[in-house]
Amino acid sequence: MSSPSGRMRARRSAGLAGEGRAPGDKSISHRALIFAALSNGDCEISGLLEGDDVLRTAAALRALGAEVERRGRDWRVSGGPWKTPGHALYFGNSGTGARLLMGAVAGAGVAAVFDGDASLRGRPMGRVLEPLRMMGVNAVDNDGRLPVSIEGGSDLSAVTCKLAKPSAQVKSAILLAALGAEGLTRVHEPQRSRDHTERMLNAFGVELGFESDGGPGRIISLQGMQQLHAANVVVPGDPSSAAFAVAAAVITPGSDLTIKNVLVNPLRAGFYETLRDMGADIAFENKREESGEPVADIRARHSILHGVEVPATRAPAMIDEYPVLAVVASYAIGETMMRGVEELRVKESDRIAAAEAGLVACGVDVKSGPDWLRVKGDGKAPHGGALVKTHHDHRIAMSFLVMGLAAKEPVEIDDAAMIATSFPDFSALMAGFGADMAPVS
Ligand code: S3P
Repeated sequence: MSSPSGRMRARRSAGLAGEGRAPGDKSISHRALIFAALSNGDCEISGLLEGDDVLRTAAALRALGAEVERRGRDWRVSGGPWKTPGHALYFGNSGTGARLLMGAVAGAGVAAVFDGDASLRGRPMGRVLEPLRMMGVNAVDNDGRLPVSIEGGSDLSAVTCKLAKPSAQVKSAILLAALGAEGLTRVHEPQRSRDHTERMLNAFGVELGFESDGGPGRIISLQGMQQLHAANVVVPGDPSSAAFAVAAAVITPGSDLTIKNVLVNPLRAGFYETLRDMGADIAFENKREESGEPVADIRARHSILHGVEVPATRAPAMIDEYPVLAVVASYAIGETMMRGVEELRVKESDRIAAAEAGLVACGVDVKSGPDWLRVKGDGKAPHGGALVKTHHDHRIAMSFLVMGLAAKEPVEIDDAAMIATSFPDFSALMAGFGADMAPVS
């Protein structure tokens, strides 16, 4: 089942209830495919997200010489030496696929051209290319953007670098390139960002070093020329996707639902922490570990919410969840202030502008600045009754469909197509909980 394209409408729904599963984690799915393709053998991946973004990464890896195929419900990847593909690699809307593979291509000592859709062509790539160039990679860009061509050499050198901003994509690209560089590469992240690359490299037999920087960041070191050893990966459910169902439950009166098997890595759990600060009734049940990552079943019930100040230090742990948090905040009593969110301006869309415009259209009191977003609610359902522009951004699309489930009037989005990049079964899952969402004919 896949999400429809074109306009879609969500209407005020009765309490959402039941159990469901979120799709596989997008970040872990990209990494599982890439690391398996860099390994020395056959790897099984179960629970892989089969969204457009991840399927682009799979296609790029095939072009780079890996065998990647679906076998029944799982995926099988045979790693081995990479080759220079005969055509440009096309990443569609996927920043993670493009940026991680720039590092991996460089480290593997091959060459490739990277391209993507209009949104991805507008996003900054210099943050990845600069450190790669410091390592000796030959990179040609288009004013810091795609198309980019990368030529990894056989003589890359290790680097020590401090990231200007916390970014798991940039950190991962450097570590992947460092696999093919002589010497010890050290990456200093000023604040900790999601650590799936570090955890999964470990699971593939790569040794890494970790040092605290005495503050919120840490230094990760990796000795070059290490071989990845084939390993199997079980991908847990995506907390960034589960966030939409959880948000819908906390704002829709009478709701009580559970999303099973969700990744609850603390570096991804900022949204859930913030909801709890707002007074939401959320429980992580049946906590366990799978493939080196913590997972749990998340139970969420309708709650009376209060506005909060979301600290800037929490941004890396919930960077993709701000649009849906802004929607939730419009149902809370008082002001929710989100600071330190300037990175939202360079995601799949300018998410500060897109969220603000959608909320204004729905009758919500909202203001923004270069790096902040403030939403005021009075504890009553917002008016809704608007057609919201998604700017081809999957998270804006899902956020405003959630908005419509409890607003006074239905909320429509201009295009549901991009939802398939990260959450192909979104509308089916939500319908299973009783959400009234349908394409507009
Ligand atoms: C991701 C890192 C984040 C996030 C993106 C996925 C990853 O981006 O927004 O959706 O898988 O490493 P940044 O690293 O640019 O913050």
